[in-house]
Amino acid sequence: MQPLTEYVTDVLIIGSGAAGLSLALRLAGHCKVMILSKDLLNNSSTWYAQGGIAAVFEDNDSINYHVEDTLRAGAGLCDREVVEFIVGNARHCVEWLVQQGVLFDVENPALPNTRYHLTREGGHSYRRVLHAADATGKAIETILIHKATLHPNIHIIEGCNAVDLVTSNTLGLCGTRRVVGTYIWNRSLEKMERCYACAAVVLATGGASKVYQYTTNPDISSGDGIAMAWRAGCRVANLEFNQFHPTSLFHPQAPNFLLTEALRGEGAYLYRPDGSRFMPDFDLRAELAPRDIVTRAIDHEMRRLGAECMYLDISYRPKHFIRNHFPTIYDKLRTLNIDLTSQPIPIVPAAHYTCGGVMVDKHGRTDLDGLYAIGEVSYTGLHGANRLASNSLLECLVYGWTASVDILRRLPTVVKQAHELPYWNDSCSFVSNSNDSEKIILQQNGQELRLLMWDDVGIVRTTKRLESALYRINFLTNQMDEYYSNLSISNTSLEVRNLLQVASLIVKSALQRKESRGLHYTLDYPTMQPNPQPTILQPGRREGYHYEEGSN
Ligand code: FAD
Ligand code: SIN
Repeated sequence: MQPLTEYVTDVLIIGSGAAGLSLALRLAGHCKVMILSKDLLNNSSTWYAQGGIAAVFEDNDSINYHVEDTLRAGAGLCDREVVEFIVGNARHCVEWLVQQGVLFDVENPALPNTRYHLTREGGHSYRRVLHAADATGKAIETILIHKATLHPNIHIIEGCNAVDLVTSNTLGLCGTRRVVGTYIWNRSLEKMERCYACAAVVLATGGASKVYQYTTNPDISSGDGIAMAWRAGCRVANLEFNQFHPTSLFHPQAPNFLLTEALRGEGAYLYRPDGSRFMPDFDLRAELAPRDIVTRAIDHEMRRLGAECMYLDISYRPKHFIRNHFPTIYDKLRTLNIDLTSQPIPIVPAAHYTCGGVMVDKHGRTDLDGLYAIGEVSYTGLHGANRLASNSLLECLVYGWTASVDILRRLPTVVKQAHELPYWNDSCSFVSNSNDSEKIILQQNGQELRLLMWDDVGIVRTTKRLESALYRINFLTNQMDEYYSNLSISNTSLEVRNLLQVASLIVKSALQRKESRGLHYTLDYPTMQPNPQPTILQPGRREGYHYEEGSN
């Protein structure tokens, strides 16, 4: 039995993106907080966010318009009350960011009290997206990391995976079943550690887009939080709604690079390879239609023409305008010998955002007492069947705030007595004893999974292909359970285990939806049904590594 490190904290936050860091900073004045990050602190989707944050800052705009745009993009599946709650709290949460030191672009930097420069993205009827040029996430993440690193009450641990949640019943504690901590895999030392959290554990682990072969997301987006919450007995919802961003760069040396929707907001057009525009044929809003519509149009044209990509072109706008507004994209493309100011850019859609996730209430509380989920890992009801651009960073900030309010309310009632968590070996099926060929097979299984998700559970679906995907996912899962249960834990085995888990939940959700709506488009049910409901999956058994589920 290997010796284990055991940390004790008041609140354990798993994830160091906008959601996790903003919550940590709001709590740190009142209690001890530990932040866990799988990789370097800044390796998050937040860091790569380009377009900006949607919030109403201009008099000609209104909260009501922002609400209506969100509901329209969400194609009838948003929870109106939640949308109103988030949009209504947008401004003060963005102002909190500004107080932390985040600088958003303004109209005229030479003037005092000048207005924010607001850009526009698909589905927004007004300019309402605050941004820091085309690197908004980097501007936010840099400031939040700086502040968190300096805070005496925040303990940061990088390069460690949360593996599984530990619940009170495993300690023999009576009362309501609640989360008491997690197992933590130290990636560089390759050993298991533990953390006991007296008041709360917060999943802020981001999305699951890595389940697809082509994605705009960094490698950390492997759905760990969704898989962990599910294994701990929490419900998940709307996982069939995977958002594919229409414009990811098509280039072998930079397959994940995003070309922000703000390019279209500032006038870029989409073209076929022969130079003809196609979006007006699909939607009156043309290039500024919501993302699901633009992505499907690109996919349709690529298939129809047998083309490997379509093209995005903003070169008709003045060179200085393009370079000022999109310096990151301009520089990146220059390294690939592409000039944004003078030529069309080859683009393809790529998996971008997980609209569903762990079910939470308006404070980010999950089904398990003491467990919160905030940011992309969660399902709040905001996004419905399709997320409106730049509403995600907003959701991270609003839930960073509202979860902090709830945790602080709960703090005085918490008994600050740490219990020793059981050893990992007592509670899991992994034991040491692996060889290289097994590891390679595991890696291949992960690659196969991502490709089959892309091919069979992508932009356009059919029941047959979903069923075939599920069959193969079950096979790979059984193989992992039965043949590789004696693998030692590794970064790969932990990731593949979670990817398989989330892939299975995505396909099961997709099979349950007998209609096409928003991001879920199936040739077998091409129309919308009346009275749509979220797809809710409920774990069948509450304990352990093995699980089963029933439908709602
Ligand atoms: P992330 O920022 O993804 O952070 C997740 C954190 O969890 C990371 O620190 C990771 O290390 C950690 N983690 C994960 N699993 C584990 C584990 N098992 N153990 C320990 N730590 C773990 N949205 C907008 O609103 N506006 C935009 O302009 C925008 N642009 C985008 C551009 C790109 C290229 C991408 C990829 C996304 C963009 N999005 C945008 C979406 C938005 O950036 C994300 O939804 C949001 O940043 C998610 O924040 P988060 O805090 O929930 O998670
Ligand atoms: C983008 O800049 O296009 C991404 C915006 C988002 O995902 O909200």
